[in-house]
Amino acid sequence: MKRRLMLIGAALLLGNGVVIAQQDLVNEGQMLMKANGRNMGTVLSAMAKGEKPFDQAAVDAALAQFADTAKKLPTLYPDSTKGLKPPGDYSPSPKIYEDRAGFNAAIASFAKAVATAKGNIKDLDTLKASVPGIGKECSNCHETFRVKNG
Ligand code: HEC
Repeated sequence: MKRRLMLIGAALLLGNGVVIAQQDLVNEGQMLMKANGRNMGTVLSAMAKGEKPFDQAAVDAALAQFADTAKKLPTLYPDSTKGLKPPGDYSPSPKIYEDRAGFNAAIASFAKAVATAKGNIKDLDTLKASVPGIGKECSNCHETFRVKNG
């Protein structure tokens, strides 16, 4: 009996561990997106608007972070995370789970825009020309695959 209880306890612990691991994935998605938002707003857009001087190293770091996001996104919302919400203002939409092909296509399109921008941005003018293309990819995905909490 004691042994059985212990086994049940261990199974419960294990079960909780899995739920926590799934929640970690969803939370990581949110951390990445918050970093995307900061890089887009306080780095790329701020430079494009002339609020900050052009800084190639900061541009490259922002683009590298976008590329890293694109690489991780396909692994962050496996079916086992369906229904889980991160603590912030936004959540992954159920459409991610319903239209996996569409979600992966949005990620691929984003990755392509980031790679193109990386090849093109060399100064303020090319930055200004490239930022809207990246921004469009962000909004395209959000329109379908992100929902506001509340
Ligand atoms: C392929 C889909 C996809 C692309 C591309 C994408 N996002 Fe997101 N984004 C999401 C999803 C899904 C969420 C909701 C997850 C969350 O917030 O936890 C989100 C949430 C966010 C949030 C809200 C974070 C919060 O506080 O909850 C910000 C800010 C954000 N994205 C910025 C960006 C920026 C900037 C880009 C482009 C550089 C971008 N995203 C590109 C899917 C995407």
